[in-house]
Amino acid sequence: MTRAVTLIRGDGIGPEVSDAVLEILAAADVPIAWEEAVVGQAAEKREGDPLPASALDAIRRTRVALKGPVGTPIGKGFQSVNVRLRQAFTLYANLRPVRNVEGVASRFQGVDLVIVRENTESLYSGLEHTVVPGVVESLKIITEVASTRIARYAFEYARANGRRRVTAIHKANIMKLSDGLFLDCFRRVAEDYPDIAADDRIVDAACMRLVMNPESFDVLLLENLYGDIVSDLAAGLVGGLGLVPGANLGNDAAIFEAVHGTAPDIAGQNKANPTALLMSAILMLRHLDLPAHADRVEQALFRTLREGVKTPDLGGATGTREFAKEVVARLA
Ligand code: NAI
Repeated sequence: MTRAVTLIRGDGIGPEVSDAVLEILAAADVPIAWEEAVVGQAAEKREGDPLPASALDAIRRTRVALKGPVGTPIGKGFQSVNVRLRQAFTLYANLRPVRNVEGVASRFQGVDLVIVRENTESLYSGLEHTVVPGVVESLKIITEVASTRIARYAFEYARANGRRRVTAIHKANIMKLSDGLFLDCFRRVAEDYPDIAADDRIVDAACMRLVMNPESFDVLLLENLYGDIVSDLAAGLVGGLGLVPGANLGNDAAIFEAVHGTAPDIAGQNKANPTALLMSAILMLRHLDLPAHADRVEQALFRTLREGVKTPDLGGATGTREFAKEVVARLA
């Protein structure tokens, strides 16, 4: 059965890495009918909104999207399209597996961790205001409902995927109420999963341990901001942002996207690594219950990297388009 999936190419390197991924998935005969939705700069120009209602309707219909990165103006301008999408569909769980890939040099070996990031609240609620000129307030919202939901997701994920430990990462020594509530919810939920070890670490100490002994972590549970920061840190452990996929999951929809942004420094130069978006697409194929297609694409990708075919971010000289062709050649 062919499945309809919304495609958002996005800004910056988004169209380049999307085209590479589409070429590979087409060559692997994935039974997907793509429905493109325009989001980001092009949508803002055309419709005055970077996230037009037509795109939201498209995702509401297909319930699954593959998405390239979308830029957000810094310190001014419109609210992040990415945050709006996650809130619009209550995509409460942001899942980001980070592991070493054979053939990719890294200072660390044995990294195999999974970041589970709460995706709907904390400081990303966008509640900021000027109290008096020169004083602004940014509200960190933490709720029992969202904290319990994400903790339960982390333990369910661990159980379903043969993981042994969930570590909650927080700053409850300073933010006793907000991070304290997040931690309390985690501890309560942990009691329902005696088969999975549960512990917690303060975020600063966790960061040090991540860059000294990353192999000691399994599943990491974090609120929104810490999850955002630690995701990029963790990407750096295994070779960079070109390699780390992501899924935004809710009860009614799922959006698959890489951790990286629009990479304006290399956009339009055929230099971007499509691996992260391809790995996100592989997560999507498993979500769509297409495990044979997922395995086939994944094996071709890993073989390509193992055989030394690399984009410039990994020290190679292969372009985005040429990399896609190398993966296609290994699909057989
Ligand atoms: P970025 O992730 O776009 O780039 C950081 C560095 O990593 C750059 O040097 C870039 O060249 C490199 N890089 C990223 N992806 C790569 C890839 N696939 N292949 C090779 N190199 C890669 O982060 P930055 O510059 O902070 O953000 C740029 C824009 O992206 C901002 O407007 C930001 O808001 C947006 N953004 C969007 C996200 C999304 O749509 N989910 C996520 C993160 C940022």
